[in-house]
Amino acid sequence: MQIKCEKIKYIYNAKDPNSYYALDDISFEIDKGDFVALVGKTGSGKSTLIQTFNALILPTEGYSQVEYFYVTSDKKLFKEKISKLPKEERNENKKQFLIRKKVGMVFQFPEYQLFAETVLKDVMFGPKNFKVPEDEAKELSIKALKDVGIPENYFERSPFELSGGEKRRVAIAGILASNPDILILDEPTAGLDPEGKKEIINLIKEIHSTGKTVILVTHDMDVVMECATKIVVLNDAKLVKICTPEELFNGNDIETYALEIPAFYKFKKLLIEKGYKKDISSINNFDELISVLGAQDE
Ligand SMILES: Nc1ncnc2c1ncn2[C@@H]1O[C@H](COP(=O)(O)OP(=O)(O)OP(=O)(O)O)[C@@H](O)[C@H]1O
Ligand SMILES: [Mg+2]
Repeated sequence: MQIKCEKIKYIYNAKDPNSYYALDDISFEIDKGDFVALVGKTGSGKSTLIQTFNALILPTEGYSQVEYFYVTSDKKLFKEKISKLPKEERNENKKQFLIRKKVGMVFQFPEYQLFAETVLKDVMFGPKNFKVPEDEAKELSIKALKDVGIPENYFERSPFELSGGEKRRVAIAGILASNPDILILDEPTAGLDPEGKKEIINLIKEIHSTGKTVILVTHDMDVVMECATKIVVLNDAKLVKICTPEELFNGNDIETYALEIPAFYKFKKLLIEKGYKKDISSINNFDELISVLGAQDE
């Protein structure tokens, strides 16, 4: 277990009589190296939940745990949890921003993340914030920018002059430069054209293949099918399902949660409805299906 949510409840504006739970009794675990897709209809609580993983939001009740970091607004619970830790980890918990070195978050709107005068300065902010010396921070940032495919002639440009796809890449580089173990991305392909989307997804897959844990918030079920090892479904502030992509997409409740069915599963369903005779129920990708369909023609 690398990340744990334990009975998390969260209310924005608790004093407002019309307030409601944005997160309601959420419990689950994520293992190191997982590629988690966090899905659910708009307003279901996805962005709220991920912000408890780097202490931008403190759960009203319950706690999030990332390795030895505890995130909660329950002071008694926090004290009790950290009292069992070795001294150094206990102290790190008290300086809670240190969790952000472990958990890198790319926000839903890259404009919220970018702020410096130049692309390079923007990316350097992360490592410098964690006290990495200037020279080293520059080296790490140049490497991160190259890794995400931003050419050198962009380094001195203003991040605000970039296209949507380029801004997202710079925002990702800004997180990678601090080398976090866990990368969280909130709808990183929103608003991109198909080519830009493919490039960002390939980049995320590549980052995952280096051993990092990835949590991806997305409405794109084709991406979920392609990348995720685990799916967490939120609906109206509650966790309603945690499963593999195959379990979700072969099941009957996907439309209940207002999720789109990936193109492959739509096609498979249609074949079965039209009376295709062979058992294709356990096939979960186009390559396998094509070989079965081809075999029938021979
Ligand atoms: N800053 C805020 N103040 C008050 N309520 C908020 C705030 N941010 C979110 N909410 C409310 O909390 C609930 C969960 O919102 P959240 O942004 O986590 O949903 P989401 O699943 O990320 O949605 P989307 O897919 O549209 O990004 C919603 O009802 C939303 O209106
Ligand atoms: Mg959101």
